Amino acid sequence: MTAAEVGLERPHVFLPADSEASGPPLLLLHGTGGNEHDLLPFGHMVTPGATLLSPRGKVLERGMPRFFRRLAEGVFDEADVRARALELADFVGEAREAYDLEAPLAVGFSNGANIAAALLWLRPETLAGAVLIRAMVPLSTPPEADLAAKPVLILSGAMDPIVAADNAARLAQQLTAAGASVTHEVLPAGHALSQADVTLAREWLASP
Ligand code: MLT
Repeated sequence: MTAAEVGLERPHVFLPADSEASGPPLLLLHGTGGNEHDLLPFGHMVTPGATLLSPRGKVLERGMPRFFRRLAEGVFDEADVRARALELADFVGEAREAYDLEAPLAVGFSNGANIAAALLWLRPETLAGAVLIRAMVPLSTPPEADLAAKPVLILSGAMDPIVAADNAARLAQQLTAAGASVTHEVLPAGHALSQADVTLAREWLASP
């Protein structure tokens, strides 16, 4: 089924689950300059057979798709972060209706992880939980949110030149303080995805 056929305007890929698969659908959110195809192999590796819903970021930065505007690397246009997170939440709601899905678990990388974290603050009911890979704090003053028992895995890179260690640690603290059940792992990696991300995400997603 194409996006147009189900009445969803935003470019995305939807892959239904194998009959064997269990667990929530994965909402795959790519990094800067990526698209809706980028994280499909990662999704298949971390939960074989799961339903995958993978939208494209609607903001273009010099032709590169992103999920929200930034003023410089690591400096976000927070009004746009808020507006785009709500727009993404609306897309997820429409996709759930069109494809008859339960609330998805976000798997976001870099810019995709940052919009997923914003979604947790702004529309927590949109997500069953989140895997945030190389994420940073998306909102300097996050709103009050009840993230009671929302499972969140944060995978940071010890040598990440984009995300400072204390920024990722602050995100983990803020989410924990809002009630989320946070696991924060720091891998011997840079900003790019690594095999360790696959292994840790797969183990975490498989744990009850
Ligand atoms: C962002 O803009 O979301 C972060 O700086 C990560 C990136 O996309 O490079």
